[in-house]
Amino acid sequence: MHASLLFVSALAASAWAAPAFPKISEDASVPERVRSISDYFNLLATKVQESRTLAAPPTCDLSHLSLPAGAAGLPKPSEGLVLKHIAIGRGTQNYTCNPNAPADAPKAVGAVATLFNASCVAATSPDLAASLGRAALHFDVAQSEALQKLSPSNLGVSGVHFFLDGTTAFFDLDVSSAWKLGEIPCGKNASVAAPADAPKGLKSEAAVPWLKLNAKQGATGGLQEVYRVETVGGSAPATCNGMPDKFEVQYATQ
Ligand SMILES: *[C@@H]1O[C@H](CO)[C@@H](O)[C@H](O)[C@H]1NC(C)=O
Ligand SMILES: *[C@@H]1O[C@H](CO)[C@@H](O)[C@H](O)[C@H]1NC(C)=O
Ligand SMILES: *[C@@H]1O[C@H](CO)[C@@H](O)[C@H](O)[C@H]1NC(C)=O
Repeated sequence: MHASLLFVSALAASAWAAPAFPKISEDASVPERVRSISDYFNLLATKVQESRTLAAPPTCDLSHLSLPAGAAGLPKPSEGLVLKHIAIGRGTQNYTCNPNAPADAPKAVGAVATLFNASCVAATSPDLAASLGRAALHFDVAQSEALQKLSPSNLGVSGVHFFLDGTTAFFDLDVSSAWKLGEIPCGKNASVAAPADAPKGLKSEAAVPWLKLNAKQGATGGLQEVYRVETVGGSAPATCNGMPDKFEVQYATQ
């Protein structure tokens, strides 16, 4: 029954664009999960209605945006910097475990994610952007990559994120042929726990912390700082008990 509600909302939204309908991963019959996807579709439908009454096409000016309240414990962006891009990241956090030490905590060994261009959505509807990561977690990442967009929002791929070594997170925003924003290898500058009400992941795990990352040597395009906010899931279990040597936890973020 929840699923049919979901599809009714999706059809309402498809008057705007007719995206290929993506496979929803895992068990979408669990009410909490259905709620996050259907909230997203309902918001999308509302925005489509609102946009019909706009006198001019929406613009993608990011200058009026600020960090969400949950980022208050992170250092502010450095003086003089301007916000260049907002992406939804969808991928995995990777962990390792020592099979001989089941009581130990899993060790974080990096992450891999596809970045989807959410700049215009965030500029025109910050509330929709905030719910995107939540919905994105429930769409199959391999299929979104293959389609080169985060369906059904139609957000195009704007980059990729992976680790160069144990402490260097890398964001490549040069992957699109239409525009190139640069590349940024960076290291963690500060971390705060995700807000208490941050959405849980596919296995009901907590959301990974929010971060500020600063550029290391080699960044291009004037890129200097990166924030990871609005995280969804991705954290490891408390201990290695019953876990394999290497494992991944699905996550999404902005
Ligand atoms: C994380 O997992 C992905 C997918 O299996 C893999 O391609 C990648 O190499 C792993 N990264 C790390 C740092 O272990
Ligand atoms: C993101 O998409 C918009 C169109 O929706 C485009 O104008 C913009 O150049 C793209 N890239 C960035 C970095 O915002
Ligand atoms: C974080 O970045 C600020 C400048 O942006 C710097 O002053 C501070 O030392 C950095 N802290 C850490 C722990 O890297």
